[in-house]
Amino acid sequence: MHSRNIRTTCSRFLRDYRIKISALASKLIKGVSEVTTYVSWDAINYKVFIMWFFNNPVIQALLLQISIIWPNKYAAPWVPTSMVEVHKMLQLAEVRPDDLVYDLGCGDGRVIIVAARQYGSRAIGIEIDPLRYMWCQMLITILGLRDLVQVIFGDFFKKDLNDADVIICYLLPATNQKLESKFMQELQANTRVVSHDFLFTRIQVQQQDDQYNLYLYHPQP
Ligand SMILES: C[S@@+](CC[C@H](N)C(=O)[O-])C[C@H]1O[C@@H](n2cnc3c(N)ncnc32)[C@H](O)[C@@H]1O
Repeated sequence: MHSRNIRTTCSRFLRDYRIKISALASKLIKGVSEVTTYVSWDAINYKVFIMWFFNNPVIQALLLQISIIWPNKYAAPWVPTSMVEVHKMLQLAEVRPDDLVYDLGCGDGRVIIVAARQYGSRAIGIEIDPLRYMWCQMLITILGLRDLVQVIFGDFFKKDLNDADVIICYLLPATNQKLESKFMQELQANTRVVSHDFLFTRIQVQQQDDQYNLYLYHPQP
């Protein structure tokens, strides 16, 4: 009786997990469709590949391990910026080819990919979630962007941002608050910071786009 209960609980857990993975796959497919529409990339049938990837039992077992052992250190959940807003943010920062753009918490890599492909700049994404980090690595490799784009696995609070020309943030109010002192200590005088949806309270807004809730800052050391 006892072992039947355990078996039922395990099979329910695995069924729920498979549903979650399928939802993640659909989200990634939607995201990659948006990104690739913008960068005109249709070299391989990525949808078939993604479905194969996420339906593969070995991959599912691996993902399960990662999600169980991974500690909860997130400073913001994954909510992707729409592609229109990605462009608006990069335009607000006036990104040029000689800029180095950082995306703090780069999610599925859309900001860094568009920065490199459409604006010709170098871009670095920092991502704490191992799945999204691996996803970004795969995408930039397939898109042939490894010369311009780098993805770092880890916590953006631990990365020195001194070489940044532009910083893109889509985080949370409490995270922005913690980042303010880091910006004051590390950023150069001409670094532009664009935040989506959430304000920095101790730095003055230089420009804002009220339609998309985007805010441009020039944090002074
Ligand atoms: C709201 S999403 C924004 C994703 C992407 N920048 C965009 O605009 O589409 C926030 C991302 O930050 C990542 N993140 C949260 N805390 C982090 C941390 N301390 N270091 C690195 N990445 C982090 C999350 O995993 C998530 O992918």
